[in-house]
Amino acid sequence: MKKNLIALFGGLLFAGALISCGGGGSETKTTTKTMTADLVNGEAVYNKSCIACHMTGVAGAAALSDKARWEENAAKGMETLLADAMKGYTGKYGVMPEKGTCMDCTEQDMFDAISFMLDKAGVEAAK
Ligand code: HEC
Repeated sequence: MKKNLIALFGGLLFAGALISCGGGGSETKTTTKTMTADLVNGEAVYNKSCIACHMTGVAGAAALSDKARWEENAAKGMETLLADAMKGYTGKYGVMPEKGTCMDCTEQDMFDAISFMLDKAGVEAAK
């Protein structure tokens, strides 16, 4: 029985590693490579939901004018930025809430808003 549990646990770890690596091409994972940013929509989403924190950098958020912070973000790649913004995360600067509090936002909306902020900061992220 103990042996089975260990085998099960090992199997779970292995499956987890496969999923988190993402290299295996799991179909449900969003790829930002094929997404195109609509900066007009991005600005609208930003004005509605992100501006509260990201305009001047409230609560540890990267301010729109803070190029260094956006460069630091961009270095993670668009894929990571989108995933972090969608599910929310706690970093070394503060707490980014899930979807930046825009609960009815789609992944495309979030992608647009992030692209808009990067654009304003004058930074480009690797897709
Ligand atoms: C309540 C404040 C708040 C709101 C509202 C907010 N953010 Fe954030 N966001 C943060 C904070 C704080 C961080 C920095 C977290 C850290 O790195 O420690 C952050 C970080 C980010 C990052 C960097 C992600 C990464 O991987 O480093 C992105 C992208 C982002 N926000 C996008 C958005 C978008 C898009 C919106 C609007 C839809 C939004 N945020 C709304 C507080 C906010």
